[in-house]
Amino acid sequence: MAGNSFGEFFKITTWGESHGKSLGVVIDGCPAGVKISEKDIQIEMDRRKPGQSKYTTQRKEPDKINILSGVFEGKTTGTPISMLINNTDAISKSYNSFKDIYRPGHADLSYDAKYGIRDYRGGGRSSNRETVARVAAGAIAKKILESFKIKTFGFVSQIGDIKCDNVVQSYIEKNPLRIPDRSKLNSMTDLIDSVRKQGDSIGGIIEIRSTGVPAGLGSPVFDKIDAKLAAAIMSIGGVRGFEIGSGFSIAEKKGSEVNDIILSKKGSRASFKTNNAGGILGGITNGNDLIIRFALKPTSSISKQQDSINSKGSKKKLKVTGRHDPCLCPRAVPIGEAMVNLVLLDCLLENQLSNIKKISI
Ligand SMILES: Cc1cc2nc3c(=O)[nH]c(=O)nc-3n(C[C@H](O)[C@H](O)[C@H](O)COP(=O)(O)O)c2cc1C
Repeated sequence: MAGNSFGEFFKITTWGESHGKSLGVVIDGCPAGVKISEKDIQIEMDRRKPGQSKYTTQRKEPDKINILSGVFEGKTTGTPISMLINNTDAISKSYNSFKDIYRPGHADLSYDAKYGIRDYRGGGRSSNRETVARVAAGAIAKKILESFKIKTFGFVSQIGDIKCDNVVQSYIEKNPLRIPDRSKLNSMTDLIDSVRKQGDSIGGIIEIRSTGVPAGLGSPVFDKIDAKLAAAIMSIGGVRGFEIGSGFSIAEKKGSEVNDIILSKKGSRASFKTNNAGGILGGITNGNDLIIRFALKPTSSISKQQDSINSKGSKKKLKVTGRHDPCLCPRAVPIGEAMVNLVLLDCLLENQLSNIKKISI
């Protein structure tokens, strides 16, 4: 089964299933000399882990990170970094009663069609649990990027039809939904509570912003940074839409309204009047903040009764038991950030080879 690796220069390969013994990641291409500890990585793991509040799945996983290789005396050595996370709270029997039934909205039917065999316990490899490995790798990318003053943060900008109007960055990690607008917390938590009581779920939108991004990251034509970001974000389970800058709303606008006027340029740093382009022109960063957004569908696993079929095609009724996120958004924020950090670092490393003046021996 190919398709488990991401990135060219900072290349990650993730492995493991939702109810297997462990999950992990191998990073090849991490520069030597990066100061890193399990503690640094654990901060990001804790932001993603399940059971953080009543608005996330109640599966209790400590998601303790174990660095197995590639780090010596607190610094990366330039050799492959291998990290492992054990599954400690999988309850596989919750899946026994519908192991042969295709859950609507899930990967069951398509995995069966492709492989003829699937791990029905928690969705196996298609489970969001896999992203624990990406977040571990992303934590190292984040550390390297921060040394170049590139910082990325994300937040939930919409749940159902309730939209945040203000972005107060300091509030994001202080509330269980990771929203940036205090005035929307009660209405959003009420909405999640009410859909959960009905055995249902709700979708939403996440925005990710990166500051300090230099101009010049990304390449023509198939390796445009927007194409890489789209691939990175669309690889997260449950993502149904992706946009950059003004995104889909740009379709309603005139050119004179959305062209970002260039005000000045010092070295490779330009400043702009607006940021409708979301920091990217021609697939290459322009020095403005990077702004992307993605829409997440309502969680497919719902306890409301649904119609489905089994693998023989017989009609079946189904109630998905087990522990699930009633809204995917709060936990998807650190995952989105990790994917953006992985793309930015990959492009930064690629840039070392883009100009002969950058190569030093
Ligand atoms: C943070 C996060 C948590 C998720 N938790 C669940 C869950 O508890 N139950 C569920 O049915 N799907 C969950 N998903 C979504 C599934 O992984 C996804 O819908 C499934 O793999 C099918 O893939 P697709 O929706 O991209 O087609 C989660 C996704 C994310 C990003």
